[in-house]
Amino acid sequence: AETGSLSIVLLGASGDLAKKKTFPALFNLYRQGFLNPDEGHIFGYARTKISDDELRNHIRGNLVPGKGASGEQLEEVSKFLQLIRYVSGSYDSEEGFQLLDKEISKHEFSKNTKEGSSRRLFYLALPPSVYPSVCKMIKNYCMNKSDLGGWTRIVVEKPFGKDLDSSEQLSAQIGELFDEQQIYRIDHYLGKELVQNLLVLRFANRFFLPLWNRDNIDNVQIVFREDFGTEGRGGYFDEYGIIRDIIQNHLLQILCLIAMEKPISLTPEHIRDEKVKVLQSVLPIEDEEVLLGQYDGYTDDPTVPDNSNTPTFATMILRIHNERWEGVPFILKAGKALNSRKAEIRIQFKTVPGQKQGRNEIVIRLQPSEAIYMKVTVKQPGLEMSTIQSELDLSYQQRYHGVTIPEAYERLILDTVRGDQQHFVRRDELKAAWEIFTPLLHRIDNGEVKPIPYRPGSRGPEEADQLLERAGYVLTHGYSWVPPT
Ligand code: BG6
Repeated sequence: AETGSLSIVLLGASGDLAKKKTFPALFNLYRQGFLNPDEGHIFGYARTKISDDELRNHIRGNLVPGKGASGEQLEEVSKFLQLIRYVSGSYDSEEGFQLLDKEISKHEFSKNTKEGSSRRLFYLALPPSVYPSVCKMIKNYCMNKSDLGGWTRIVVEKPFGKDLDSSEQLSAQIGELFDEQQIYRIDHYLGKELVQNLLVLRFANRFFLPLWNRDNIDNVQIVFREDFGTEGRGGYFDEYGIIRDIIQNHLLQILCLIAMEKPISLTPEHIRDEKVKVLQSVLPIEDEEVLLGQYDGYTDDPTVPDNSNTPTFATMILRIHNERWEGVPFILKAGKALNSRKAEIRIQFKTVPGQKQGRNEIVIRLQPSEAIYMKVTVKQPGLEMSTIQSELDLSYQQRYHGVTIPEAYERLILDTVRGDQQHFVRRDELKAAWEIFTPLLHRIDNGEVKPIPYRPGSRGPEEADQLLERAGYVLTHGYSWVPPT
């Protein structure tokens, strides 16, 4: 393991993402012994002029595990908070970043790690508009200066641009300052337990190897639903919409892991090479294979314009033009303000010739309650000879009770410290992802494709089912589709 001082710098420390996700993830890592207080410090940087203690108080509530917290737990929180220092400055201020560097150096020195290396991780929990200036400031003033090695890495959050051009421009600006090996583009879905399990499930099980293709699989559905709207984030959301917020990154990453070929090895580069190939094989999206929705009341948010054309719901079919997947629709569906909160993948197999009902299906539920289950046809128990559909069920809570499944951010931050880029988006991967969606997004932005209103708390617009019917799928029991018999 690497030694020496470790400084984790959270830029945008007073913001929402830092408070809700990043600090709690750091705290969990600390609790489990992954952040050694003898070598590490955490720095918050933001424009707000507050003291160390004010920042600590601002985030404390998200760390304490609720009402019944024990004295021991509270002490753990306090000890962790003591590791945090705050520096205030603007995102293009030379003095600000010089001061930040001074603070980091001071603590590197105080930790007596002079003999060791210096590791500096900069986490940009910031809007992308300031990425270029912040990266420049880091590059000019805050790089690791130890002669004895170490590194400087930056972690960036989506949205990485709004379309192909803006994303490429951002990549070029950051790429001039940092090597690809120093840049960690987070897609937090890649940190989810069952997303990380996908390659294992596919490639370590004999069952699936020969079946995973167009000869056997009828369709793949990747579904994200949330039972709340844009609450408080209307301004951000309206600029991006559900495709940029969820589909172009989270759902597309899942599609890659389902569809990719077996990588040459499990190194990050080989895995990402295969993902890029899948993305490059996706055909242009046809307007007839897209259905957009916007929930009633979405524009009531004062930060959203009354005539907003932004979709909060989308169903679409993606088609992968290669030997394995030709003709198999990948149905992607995402929506806010629906009737439930769920993210799952359904892989539906073709029917067995001569068998009228009952298709095999593998369902991988990412949340809530992680599970993998397979729908199988079995004989109805009893004297009669009839068949029923049943399930082979691996529900994580039952099978692995007592095991805590780490939060996505926790895992991904640990990866950035360890230098493992497998679960991060590579530059060419990002580009290929934008290439798929940019033409459609421009048609939406121009008002050529419009969202259909739907009732909050519903399943989304009914027209979405009709879209699937047209593609030859009819709706059965709520959430899954089967082709008409
Ligand atoms: C974020 C989106 O990336 O993912 C949010 O910006 C969304 O709009 C969130 O709510 C969902 O993440 P999770 O982990 O709660 O499914």
